[in-house]
Amino acid sequence: MHHDLVVEGKIVNPGSGVVHDTVQIGIDGAFITELKKQGLIGERNIEVRGCLIFPGFIDLHAHLREDSSEKWSYKEDFRSGSAAAIHGGITTIADMPNTPQPAINAARLRAKKELAQSKSEVEIFFYGAVTESNTEELAGMSKEAIGYKIFLADGPLYIRQEVLPEALRAVEAASNSKPKPIVVHCEDQELIENRREELEKNKDVRAGAELHSWLRPAQAELSAVRSVLSCASGIRNSVNIAHISVYDSLLLIRRSGRGRGKARIYCEVTPHHLFFNTDDLNIKKGLLKTNPPLRSESNRRQLLDAFKRGEIDFLVTDHAPHTIEEKTLGLMDAPAGVPNLDTFGSFVAWLIYSCGVSPELISRVCSYNPAKFLGLRDRGIVEVGKRANLTILEHRSVKVRSEQLSTKCGWSPFEGYEFPGTVRYTIVNGEPFIATSDAP
Ligand code: DOR
Ligand code: ZN
Repeated sequence: MHHDLVVEGKIVNPGSGVVHDTVQIGIDGAFITELKKQGLIGERNIEVRGCLIFPGFIDLHAHLREDSSEKWSYKEDFRSGSAAAIHGGITTIADMPNTPQPAINAARLRAKKELAQSKSEVEIFFYGAVTESNTEELAGMSKEAIGYKIFLADGPLYIRQEVLPEALRAVEAASNSKPKPIVVHCEDQELIENRREELEKNKDVRAGAELHSWLRPAQAELSAVRSVLSCASGIRNSVNIAHISVYDSLLLIRRSGRGRGKARIYCEVTPHHLFFNTDDLNIKKGLLKTNPPLRSESNRRQLLDAFKRGEIDFLVTDHAPHTIEEKTLGLMDAPAGVPNLDTFGSFVAWLIYSCGVSPELISRVCSYNPAKFLGLRDRGIVEVGKRANLTILEHRSVKVRSEQLSTKCGWSPFEGYEFPGTVRYTIVNGEPFIATSDAP
């Protein structure tokens, strides 16, 4: 049988247990049309027997920064962000609403979609923000948004913890016919503000890199996670607790029964929380400042072990590009967040080859689970009829170098690190892109 493209190699599908033998994937246009052991003939052929072929990675948490104001386009825009995604093996992105003109109504969401359409090689979906004053807008947003984002801390969009039950019910009512997923940034703003006041009164309370983590302590995350668990299980929408930084948050989620009511509670983790600790923050200072902050080495190990046991549903980038000038302003003045798109595939290779994470788990947390959570039935698994989105990982040592990154912010928290693998091809809607990392 003839196809536009035939890709041949080992497929890692969710549930496949062991990596399949070599298979041929027949692709026509944007879709997978045939899977066969052998005999397929392609107009174009990609033979990657030594590599692992995953269903295209889906990043359900990224900040691409662009909106009609163009104010933050110097950090990233849809073109550079999508190039960085392809470099990192990501075929689909869900973009967060906290840009200078935040996505708080349908018109703002439409404007972002239009901007992205002509600029992006990958598909970008958009979250709408839930604030204390846009309840009336939520229903109109439900057609445009892939889901809703609630910030319990961090920046101008945050809502007070006491209005969270109301906000969740408003989202449920707004997306009544098709319950949309909700992502919640869990940090207790009140607790953070109390710490800030304490610091004002006593400047010596903490010094150096520890200060940021002290201002946003583990208790702040745990308090917000408790709040979400206590009021989210009654609604029909799925809820994802964003960027878990504290191992005990996982214990709280597990003990809660993960939403015995109508909703299911999910959680995600980022590469930086699995890789770095407070000692790294002490060395790299503002560069590694993120919200929620990095934690102790023992906590990092616990998170990584829990990830390996399959207790975390999604691996996300939380790609938060800020320029190097901004990140070197000093720990207190630097904005929080690190870029992660370009290096995502190499980080996944580190999980597989250096930490012993099973490729099948990667297929679930990077592709299958995010597709389910976002309601994207056309992707997340390599199967006939699904979109031809594939991430092809190669096992070879690669050093992260800023000159090779596609993100406009031009730097990586992993600069200089050597990872045991990289993305060879990212295939989006049947179109193969060659990732650009060279060997060290
Ligand atoms: O560190 C962070 N940076 N955490 C967030 O939740 C937001 C992000 C950003 O937008 O820069
Ligand atoms: Zn984020």
